[in-house]
This record gives sequence, C-alpha cells and structure tokens, in this order.
Amino acid sequence: LPVSLIGAPTDVGAGDRGARLGPEALRIAGLREALHGLGLDVADRGNLDGPPNPWTGPVDGYRHLDEVIAWNRQVMNAVSAELGLGRMPILLGGDHCLGLGSITAVAQHCRAHGKKLRVLWLDAHADFNTNDITPSGNLHGMPVACLIGLGPRELTHLGGEAPAMQAGQMRQIGTRSVDAGEKQLIRRHGLPVYDMRRIGDLGIKRVMEDALADLDEDTHLHVSFDVDFLDPTIAPGVGTGVAGGPNYREAQLAMEMIAESGRMGSLDIVELNPILDRDNATALIAIDLVESLFGKSTLVRD
Ligand code: ARG
Ligand code: MN
Ligand code: MN
Ligand code: MN
Repeated sequence: LPVSLIGAPTDVGAGDRGARLGPEALRIAGLREALHGLGLDVADRGNLDGPPNPWTGPVDGYRHLDEVIAWNRQVMNAVSAELGLGRMPILLGGDHCLGLGSITAVAQHCRAHGKKLRVLWLDAHADFNTNDITPSGNLHGMPVACLIGLGPRELTHLGGEAPAMQAGQMRQIGTRSVDAGEKQLIRRHGLPVYDMRRIGDLGIKRVMEDALADLDEDTHLHVSFDVDFLDPTIAPGVGTGVAGGPNYREAQLAMEMIAESGRMGSLDIVELNPILDRDNATALIAIDLVESLFGKSTLVRD
C-alpha cells in the first residue's frame, strides 16, 4: 500500500506545549527516508493548518474545546482523502486528541466499504476520560470516550453519526496510568485493556496474539501509537511519561507482530514532544519501531 504522511502540528489537547513540533522532529529524524528504504511509495502531504494553542484553562471540564474541534475536522478530512485515494494515512501528531479525527475517518471508511474495524491503542494511558471525571481538562485524555459516543456533541458526532465505533472494537495495550473515574468507565463499557500487569503475566507475545486474534481479510487495522506507550527511559520526549512501560525489545516484537498480521491500514504517531527530548532520540526510536511496523526484519522472511 502506498503511504501518505499528514502533519498535524498542534498541542491544543495536551497539558504541555511542544507536541506541535512532533511532525518536524519525525521528518528531521528521517521518517520518510526510512519508509522509502523499505520499498514503500511515500508521499509527504506537509502540515495541516489550524488554530493556535490559546493556553487557557478548562471551561466546563474541557480545555481548548473549539480548537480541538477545528484540528480534528482537518485531520478527519485529510485522513478520509488519503483513504479515498487507496493510500495508507500516517498521521504525525500532535497530541493524541487527534486520534479522534483520524479514527472517525477510518470508521467511516470501514462502514462505507463493509469492512470490520479493529483499533490498537498503544499507550500508557486509557484516554477514556469525560469532562465530569477528567483530572486535567486536557482533551488528549478523552478521545477514546468521544469515539464510543461519550463527550461533547461536536466531537462525538465529528463524522455525522455517533458513536464512531464500539468499545469492543478496540484493544488497549501498555496501559499503566488510569484515573479513578476512568477505571469505573472502563469497567462499565467493557473496554478491552491489556495493561502492564497483564503484559507482565502473559508476556507481550501472548498479549499481541490475543489483541490480533480473529482479524480476517475484511478487517481494517488502525494503530494509534502514543509514543508514551514506551518506557520513558528509552523515550523521554513525551509530556506525560509513565514509568514501567514496554522496553525496546517488547515494543519491537509488538510492532513486528502487527506487521505480520498484514492488516494495518492506517496509523497515528502522536505525543512526541521534541522540547522534552534529548537529541531527537525519541523521534529516532519511534521511527525504528515504525520500520518494524512496516515489516523491517533482521533476516529474510518467507
Ligand atoms: N489521564 C490523564 C488526563 O486525562 C493523562 C492523559 C494523557 N493522554 C495522552 N494522550 N498522553 O489528563
Ligand atoms: Mn481501504
Ligand atoms: Mn494517548
Ligand atoms: Mn499516553
């Protein structure tokens, strides 16, 4: 599949500023060249445009709601356009609130083409807050709730109808920071979560086998890769790092197994914050893992 890079340089959904620089950091670290080196047809569509970060406090439990709506509309339209061209969109965030626009577009595409949808949410966080339970008001902590229909109408109905997807179509992996209200909501909605405890118990291999079980020809797999999924010792360039994440090799095996499923149709790379990084190391490791996601392997595979 030919791939298209879409930059969304914003941090309106985050609690720290700097994720707006993510797309450029990934470009400078050589994302396009890495994908090209794997033999892929890569087009860089440049950056989307949207409102600046007003850096104001929460209103009604939401920070920067209007700006988050505007950016997500841009992302949804850009992702839709690439899917319509038969290309694989790779969203370069930006903070994780943009996963809403990206996945809303993917869900619409699946509905239009009678495809099943599976979303892998690789993240330290569940991003399943709502305005009444959020500890921060930051909308990057709420996209999963919005996707299943919990949230402000402009976000839940971004694609016209709501909900964009069901909780059961998602698998969360690497989870290790969940707020008190979020825990209750996860339980109530039966959101499938493979947290770090589970990864410790079963190992990353078993967990990924489970998360990738029963995908078929007709399944579109969307991968939403929040860089804070990774342990902060290897990926310090994020605003909300949490200790105790997957190490390099565990993360790489997860990516390799996704590649081997052969079903990935769209990807988000979000939450990279170059301001908090050391020598762009987190961008480089993210790219290395994305290469595994696209099938890079040590030996010739048959
Ligand atoms: N749960 C916290 C909150 O709602 C942190 C969310 C972090 N999300 C992220 N995409 N990095 O504020
Ligand atoms: Mn398709
Ligand atoms: Mn996230
Ligand atoms: Mn996160």
